[in-house]
Amino acid sequence: MTKSEKIAKYEEILPQIESLVSGVEYGISSLANIAATIHRQMNFFWTGFYVVDGDTLLLGPFQGATACIKIPKGKGVCGTTWAQGNTIVVKNVEDFPGHIACSSLSKSEIVVPVFSKSGKITAVLDIDSDELATFDETDKLYLEKVVETLKEYETFV
Ligand code: SME
Repeated sequence: MTKSEKIAKYEEILPQIESLVSGVEYGISSLANIAATIHRQMNFFWTGFYVVDGDTLLLGPFQGATACIKIPKGKGVCGTTWAQGNTIVVKNVEDFPGHIACSSLSKSEIVVPVFSKSGKITAVLDIDSDELATFDETDKLYLEKVVETLKEYETFV
């Protein structure tokens, strides 16, 4: 996908996601609809959420192959994103120390923290690709806008 195709796709799905989430009381339902929308329209290898439960991330709604259920804070790309509080783009998962391989086909990854209105991290959005260097600043920009739609939820567990 070229950069302009990618931007056009994100511009198309962002309003869809905003309207899917708007007024929905159940956070888990919104996570499920967002994962489905991104996964189908962007054609990624794995798209899903890990939700914060105490000092652990738990597997939440996702699209793709089965995945690991618990990730401790600070572990893997997801746990590191949670601990640092910022998006991490991994061009090659083999270069990320401590990367947790749920699938050997996964080659690159982006993980975006989800913040609530009060500033708490409530979940992370994790997207994997079976190609190297799939994700860049454009994905970061738009996926951070996507997760902003989730700020009304103070918890998902
Ligand atoms: N690779 C992630 C684990 C989750 S799977 O990719 C679905 C990580 O290192 O945190």
